[in-house]
Amino acid sequence: MSPVTTKKIAVVPGDGIGQEVIPQALKVVRASGAPVGFTEFDWSADRYLRDGSTIPPDGFAMLAREFDAILVGALGDPRVPSNIHAKEILLGMRFQMDLYANVRPVRLLDESLCPLKDARPEDIDFTIIRENTEGVYLDMGGSFKPGTPDEVATQEDINTRKGVERVIRFAFDYARAQGRRRVLMTDKSNVMTYAGGLWQRVFKEVAQGYPEIAPQHMYVDALCLAMVREPRQFEVIGANNLFGDILTDLAAALVGGLGVAASGNIHPGRTSMFEPVHGSAPALAGKNAANPIGAIAAAAMMLAHLGLNPYAQKIEGAILEAVRQKKTTSDVGGSLGTRECAEWIAGQVR
Ligand SMILES: NC(=O)c1ccc[n+]([C@@H]2O[C@H](COP(=O)([O-])OP(=O)(O)OC[C@H]3O[C@@H](n4cnc5c(N)ncnc54)[C@H](O)[C@@H]3O)[C@@H](O)[C@H]2O)c1
Repeated sequence: MSPVTTKKIAVVPGDGIGQEVIPQALKVVRASGAPVGFTEFDWSADRYLRDGSTIPPDGFAMLAREFDAILVGALGDPRVPSNIHAKEILLGMRFQMDLYANVRPVRLLDESLCPLKDARPEDIDFTIIRENTEGVYLDMGGSFKPGTPDEVATQEDINTRKGVERVIRFAFDYARAQGRRRVLMTDKSNVMTYAGGLWQRVFKEVAQGYPEIAPQHMYVDALCLAMVREPRQFEVIGANNLFGDILTDLAAALVGGLGVAASGNIHPGRTSMFEPVHGSAPALAGKNAANPIGAIAAAAMMLAHLGLNPYAQKIEGAILEAVRQKKTTSDVGGSLGTRECAEWIAGQVR
């Protein structure tokens, strides 16, 4: 029998409710028996306020070299109005570690969580793949004559052939690996003709390499309408950074809100990062009231990414049961605290 290799996980609980939900996610992973070891880093607003540091100079290289994956809670704190620590740690990971595919599963666990009339779990089960390293998020642009009536502001939308191609290919590979039959690319190529033209051409070219998968297209405004009217038709959706950012929040609202949504920031073959979708929710922090399911689901995604599928499935099954039986926090209809909800899920997993 070959020895089981223990996967090394870097853990960054971060700020606010991140510090509450991440220990609960670790508890559930431990209960699953998954062969993983955790190393915690205190990169956070507390640390920044204490010694002015965000992430050590070789931090990203160290993570890539020494760890198989990273689990992050949330970053952002009102005591640091610039949120410089959050930008350097979180955006730093995405950009400097080149985690170009943001993967956001959108799965309705129970009909009680959906604001749509008569929607059943089988009606909403798709994944959004958001480009994570380009677009309007590169902080390129400028302003001219600021504060005057003649002010001009520009914000550049950067789309590289390499960046577009690799994320579209990721979406098709993801669809293939998950046994999905459709990939939809969304853009606004009718008015954003240069960037949209690139996305259109690359999408058609890449699709030819995946004959078993039907390529589809919708303008992003039409897609918003269709996601609410008839979400059943979607399997995998690929989008640029900005459209993906907006669509994923709309999608989260269809399946129970921020407390249960999880995401992966992935570069295949490299150390990738997993996190709940929510932020640090300062007003909720310290009350044992934050929903731990987003963080637990992110940990399950991480295990699946590391090839530890049986453990991931055990955890996903327990989450489903918790939601069905309302063994949850109040945002998704239960009456448990953060710790009690995670303890219940850990018990199911055990
Ligand atoms: N990935 C991240 O780390 C990330 C993401 C978004 C926001 N932020 C940061 O977090 C801080 C707060 O931002 P925000 O208020 O816009 O977003 P937020 O996600 O922290 O909170 C938005 C709303 O959702 C609720 N909510 C969030 N997570 C929840 C949970 N687990 N259980 C129950 N309810 C939950 C909050 O109470 C709040 O009403 C800011 O500093 C922001 O920059 C960080």
